[in-house]
Amino acid sequence: MSTASTLDQIKADILNKNICPELAKQATQLVFGSGNPNADVVFIGEAPGKNEDLKGEPFVGASGRFLDEMLASVGLDRSDIYITNIVKYRPPNNRDPLPVEKQAFLPYLYAQLAAIKPKVIVTLGRHSTNCFLPGLQISQIHGQPKRIRVKVHGTELTWVILPLYHPAAALYNGSMRSTLLDDFASVPALISNDYKITL
Ligand code: URA
Repeated sequence: MSTASTLDQIKADILNKNICPELAKQATQLVFGSGNPNADVVFIGEAPGKNEDLKGEPFVGASGRFLDEMLASVGLDRSDIYITNIVKYRPPNNRDPLPVEKQAFLPYLYAQLAAIKPKVIVTLGRHSTNCFLPGLQISQIHGQPKRIRVKVHGTELTWVILPLYHPAAALYNGSMRSTLLDDFASVPALISNDYKITL
């Protein structure tokens, strides 16, 4: 099966199993993920906001525009990457995703990653980062790639995680903006395995 069909299957599973029915009920639609199913790099945000809920695609609002700018700064665009969120329905009033919601969607996120097999997983913000690196502070580890081992359907996988601040944090904060751009600069080296990960 192609990666694109595997992803379609995972999306159908979420719908068929009615994951987080309360969230689903009040959202416009499922925001599963978009981009290149054969990408070397996958970006993971928190949960869809208003624009994403309406359009059915992740990061299409102001944060998405800054993400596009960061991608361009390293010579990439959306067609090179895959992008998704931990929680795949918009939480009411943009509240933070609840632990139980993150837990419910995690197996599907892992399945997406196991299908795409990216060289690098970029986590955007603390919610996303802590799904892979629990207990670590984004302020301490942003920009520092980590290697983790996870078991997906009984298979042990090694993933490289690059934790970044959430682009929304940089929208009105100039120093956060330059920190993010600096951290982002290591993406090409990570993709080409040209980066020595110390941990
Ligand atoms: N913020 C996120 O975390 N995800 C989106 O899709 C949009 C904004």
